[in-house]
Amino acid sequence: MKRGRGDAGKRRNTVSPFRRFVKMIMRFLIAFIVTIFTALYLPLNSVSALEEKMVFNRYAEKYDMKPVVFTHGLHSKRNKCEECHDAIFVKKKGGNDINMSKNSKGLYCGKCHDGKTAYPLLKCERCHSGETTKK
Ligand code: HEC
Ligand code: HEC
Ligand code: HEC
Repeated sequence: MKRGRGDAGKRRNTVSPFRRFVKMIMRFLIAFIVTIFTALYLPLNSVSALEEKMVFNRYAEKYDMKPVVFTHGLHSKRNKCEECHDAIFVKKKGGNDINMSKNSKGLYCGKCHDGKTAYPLLKCERCHSGETTKK
């Protein structure tokens, strides 16, 4: 682009292509950084991950009980992560072989669901509340 002396007045109001280019790069960089940060940070700490409900059905339906629904999010709000991980549960989906005889010995869910810290194991349907998957 030619800059004749006659353009002097105009130039004050128009942004030069170079500055426009720099601005564009800056915007791109900011968007890029924000995206990377949310992508890295959110899955580790997001509420959505913590609001997750987990279903345990390794044994339940085989023994004619409804699958167990575990409200991971609500539990994480009431209790610190460290109270469960890895003191009671390994932090891995399917990593804990939970069953009722272990629960009644005060392991896994039974550690808290003893009628004092939380409602007792006798309230079967409060845990076994999942959708039946078999006919
Ligand atoms: C605090 C939650 C909780 C309560 C309350 C509870 N259960 Fe369970 N139960 C579980 C979990 C977790 C499993 C393992 C689920 C799986 O992976 O199949 C399970 C598994 C079972 C199984 C599968 C076989 C076995 O030996 O574990 C049976 C049967 C069962 N429960 C019956 C009952 C009955 C009957 C009651 C009420 C007297 C009850 N449960 C109350 C959490 C609970
Ligand atoms: C009341 C106990 C409890 C608390 C508190 C708790 N968790 Fe968990 N967490 C569990 C159980 C149970 C599982 C499922 C393990 C299984 O499937 O065998 C689990 C699984 C997980 C997993 C594995 C998920 C996957 O897909 O493999 C992660 C990650 C996790 N928890 C992180 C956390 C974090 C972070 C906190 C605190 C904000 C937390 N938990 C608090 C009980 C708890
Ligand atoms: C660290 C203690 C702790 C452990 C371990 C624990 N719970 Fe709980 N749970 C609680 C407390 C506290 C409550 C709220 C008080 C109540 O409802 O009695 C609760 C409530 C619940 C509720 C009602 C919904 C809600 O979240 O308020 C369900 C369902 C439940 N627990 C299932 C389970 C199952 C299934 C397990 C095992 C996989 C488990 N819990 C292990 C402490 C625990």
